[in-house]
Amino acid sequence: MLFDERPKEKREDLFDRDNEILTIKNNIKRPLIVISGVRRIGKTSVLLVALNEIKENFILIDCRKLKENYGRKDLYSLFSQALSSKLSYLRDILERVRGISILGNYVEIKWKGREYLSLSDLLDNLNKKRLIIAIDEAQRLRGPMSNEVKDAIAHAYDYDKNLTFILTGSEVGLLHDLLDIDNENSPLYGRYYFELSLERFSRDLSEEFLRRGFEEFSLKVEDNIIKEIADYFDGIPGWLTFAGNAYLNMRKIEEVKERAISIAKRELEHLIEEKSNVSQITGRRYKNTLRCLARGKNTWSSLLQCLQEEEGSTISSSVFDNIITNLEKLSIIKDYEFLDPIYKEAAKRLR
Ligand SMILES: Nc1ncnc2c1ncn2[C@@H]1O[C@H](COP(=O)(O)OP(=O)(O)OP(=O)(O)O)[C@@H](O)[C@H]1O
Ligand SMILES: [Mg+2]
Repeated sequence: MLFDERPKEKREDLFDRDNEILTIKNNIKRPLIVISGVRRIGKTSVLLVALNEIKENFILIDCRKLKENYGRKDLYSLFSQALSSKLSYLRDILERVRGISILGNYVEIKWKGREYLSLSDLLDNLNKKRLIIAIDEAQRLRGPMSNEVKDAIAHAYDYDKNLTFILTGSEVGLLHDLLDIDNENSPLYGRYYFELSLERFSRDLSEEFLRRGFEEFSLKVEDNIIKEIADYFDGIPGWLTFAGNAYLNMRKIEEVKERAISIAKRELEHLIEEKSNVSQITGRRYKNTLRCLARGKNTWSSLLQCLQEEEGSTISSSVFDNIITNLEKLSIIKDYEFLDPIYKEAAKRLR
């Protein structure tokens, strides 16, 4: 079903993206592949469909489950879950690894103490068989453990020829920061990775996606409605899927839009909350910057001026630049414009 809201796993549920899947297949022997793109563009779906078709063994590590200041225990627990899901394939390797015990169908990894297993050792052991290690939302690996993770990936890149890493990330700048291949001091310095950047659907494809999705529910929806949804949600498959479902339920396009905006608003509020953990002022400045951007302040100076007026204070250009750079790295804006029009509408409503 095209409108199924979970990430797709089978080709028949995935609309378009044939080239992207082929590209992943053609590059699957490389050590490191990156799938990047804004939120809801279909990264997890493309990843899963490709992996299921490649018919090689893979494990999937979902880093969205990691807290911002995650520790070794949290990371190892994700690896445990992922390895447990492929136990029938990996059992003979894992049984012999010091620091790993298999209890029933669950793989336990020692994350501290005498038998502690390092990530690099774990990967060297996994390398005894061909394995694809997919890491979804990998930018969340930033933080206290990031150097260790990068060291392990760099080591595997050089020595573990049976392993392929596929990383996805919706906060594209942060993902590039994590890999940091241009920095001499980074463990991954100078390594090449293949990057597949997912783009939005064209207007025509968006309309076709909606038409076919509604057809699966035997619903004939008027052309002007299809066009309006396609136009409003700007080719982002996740929003088109959401809108298709919401329209099936509500049949009122204005309500569909409102729902989407309120979801996006919650996501922005979550970001502001995270920034407020640094300090109240920081949180408020992010909020005001987003509001000014939503009002169309799309140059450095007009945006700074708007922010200063909102704050009723002068703001140093370095503080301001920092906010803009971060919003860019989070893939929320580019060149002072929102990458997702729903976020723009949501930002207008921030209070
Ligand atoms: N090509 C496609 N065909 C059909 N549905 C799709 C397609 N791409 C994405 N979707 C749908 O859009 C939604 C978002 O897809 P998915 O979770 O794969 O995107 P994502 O980029 O991983 O999102 P996020 O950034 O939130 O992790 C899901 O409901 C998924 O089923
Ligand atoms: Mg995803």
